[in-house]
Formats: sequence, structure tokens, C-alpha cells
Amino acid sequence: MSNGKKRLLTGLQPSGQLHIGNYFGALKPFIDRHSEFESMLMVADYHALTSLKNPAELKKNTLDVVLDYLGAGLDPKEAVIFRQSEVSQHTELAWIFECLVTVPFLQQAHSYKDKVAKGMEANAGLFNYPMLMAADILLYDTDLVPVGKDQAQHIEYAREAASKFNNAFGETFKDPKGIFLEEVATVPGTDGQKMSKSYGNTIPLFGTKDEISKAVMRIVTDSSGERPANVYSIHRLLKSEAELAPLYEEKKGKYKDLKEALIEDLESFIAPMRERRERYASDRPAVDAILKEGNEKARSQAEAKMKVVREKIGLTI
Ligand code: TYM
Repeated sequence: MSNGKKRLLTGLQPSGQLHIGNYFGALKPFIDRHSEFESMLMVADYHALTSLKNPAELKKNTLDVVLDYLGAGLDPKEAVIFRQSEVSQHTELAWIFECLVTVPFLQQAHSYKDKVAKGMEANAGLFNYPMLMAADILLYDTDLVPVGKDQAQHIEYAREAASKFNNAFGETFKDPKGIFLEEVATVPGTDGQKMSKSYGNTIPLFGTKDEISKAVMRIVTDSSGERPANVYSIHRLLKSEAELAPLYEEKKGKYKDLKEALIEDLESFIAPMRERRERYASDRPAVDAILKEGNEKARSQAEAKMKVVREKIGLTI
């Protein structure tokens, strides 16, 4: 980077309400670092199209995700916020990568296989999704990508795309080795499996207190232990072991009390973010201006990189 800062980039799909798994897996690690890096936060609306075919919903979700980013504490002066579909260079580069990797290689993607196994349509966009994600990352010479563990393989796919391109056409993309944040784990849902919209086990990030309470009360507890593992693991996202020890000692075996304590802690954690989100939601022109500026900045950087790419592959005469 010209100012010596490294590049931080991530994206979230506007495919529904964000949950605390998205927050702790990607958004928080991004926000914690975004001032130290040259940061870009993308709304992965083309990725959402692999599952969502409802224009009104896509529009609503897109605005919601931008408000979620800002509500969660993203400083728009410190990061570029942009929409993937506003920067056509992403789909252009994805096509180029698709011509370099093989079908058997893409067939090994766990995420694709899981989604199809869960009944999602096996459309070609879903199949090629890792190459669009590789383009998202590689277009901006990214150094660090905060994502949850479920996306780790996709980072490897980006690595492979970079390497295939560099081998075929000469050094162009930085090897994105080590761009995965190792400490980032998988946030469990209310049933102890990975928190995921498609499992119906989420705690909404910007839910009302009532929605959060209902989700917490649904947390599955077994009757054998004194400390309900599924309650505790979500609680640990908010407080340290030392902070939680006295509470879990005092309320041993009292699952309802522990759930109520978790609701209170979630509420105090989310309330200030919810307020900030509401302030942005009531100032739509400001949000539009942030996005417009972000889209333009992303587009100009992406175009500079694509000029080099087109040159290398002979798409110029
Ligand atoms: P998406 O929209 O499915 O999820 C957004 C982010 O949330 C993380 N996440 C979790 N982390 C921990 N525990 C969980 N239970 C949990 N559930 C979701 C995801 O790992 C992800 O980081 N393909 C990406 C979006 C994307 C992207 C990119 C990310 C498109 N282009 C370029 C980084 C760089 C996706 O579908 O994430």
C-alpha cells in the first residue's frame, strides 16, 4: 500500500438477518483491526444471489447489512464499505479464475457439498462461488481476511487461484498464505451445532430483546451436567472464564437462571450497537453517501488491478 498499511478485507452475504456467529466470526475481528489496516468491508450481494431470488428481499437485506456494519462499530472514515455488484471487475476476474481451475477441484468444496446436501439448488453460481470469493480477495492484494472457520477452505481456493494464474501468466497476485486468522473459531448455535441460518439455531445480532430472549430460551441443555455447555459457550463470547466462574458456581444446575443472565449480558452488549444502528437508519442520505464513496474507491482500485491482469493474459491488442 502507498501509505505502508496492509490490506484487511472481508465480506458477508446479505442473505438474511446477521447473527452473533457472523459477528464474532468475521465482523468483530474486522472491526477490532480496521483502523490499523487499509480496510475494505464488502456486501457480498452477488454471493447472496446463489440462494436468494427475491429482489425486494435482496434490497432490504443489503441495506440492513450496511446498517449492521455501521451499527457494529465500523468507522466509515477508516474503511471502504462497498457492494460487490457495484464493482464489475469481481465477476470479470472470477471468470478468468474459472478458466484456470478444474471442475473436480471445485467439486471438493465442503461448503458447496453441505449446501446441496441440505437441499439448496446446485446452481452453477453456487458451484463457482469460491472463484468469485478468490476474485474478491485477490483484486485488492489482501493481506488478512477475517472469516469464520467454515470459510477456511475458501481461502485455500483463493490461494490456488492465485498460484494457477501466476504460473500461467507470471507473478501478478500475492500468495494469500496466512490470511486466515487462526484464532477465529466456530460460534455454536442454540443446539450446539455451528450457528447458521440454515440450521434455524441463530441468535440475531440486532434482534429485539424479545427475539434474543426467545432464542436463548431455545438453547438446548442436557440434564446431566451442572454447567449447561451450550449456554456457557455463548456466554464465553461475552465474558472471560474468570468473570463467569462465580455466576456458574452460584447457579449450578439452575439452567433458567443462567439463561436469564446470558440474556442480560447479550442485551447490554447489543444495546449500544442497536442505538448506533438506529441513528444511521434514520439518516439514509448519509448511508447512501458512504456506500457511493466506497463503491467508487473499490472500483478504481479494482480497475487498476484488472488493467494489469488483462495485459498479462493478452486481452489487449
Ligand atoms: P457468510 O455470509 O456465510 O458469513 C459471513 C461471515 O460469518 C462467518 N460465520 C461464522 N463464524 C463463526 N461461527 C459461525 N457459526 C459462523 N457463521 C458464519 C463466516 O465464516 C463469514 O466469515 N463467502 C462468504 C462471504 C464472502 C467473503 C468474500 C468473505 C464473499 N467474498 C471475500 C471474505 C472475503 C460467506 O458466504 O460468508
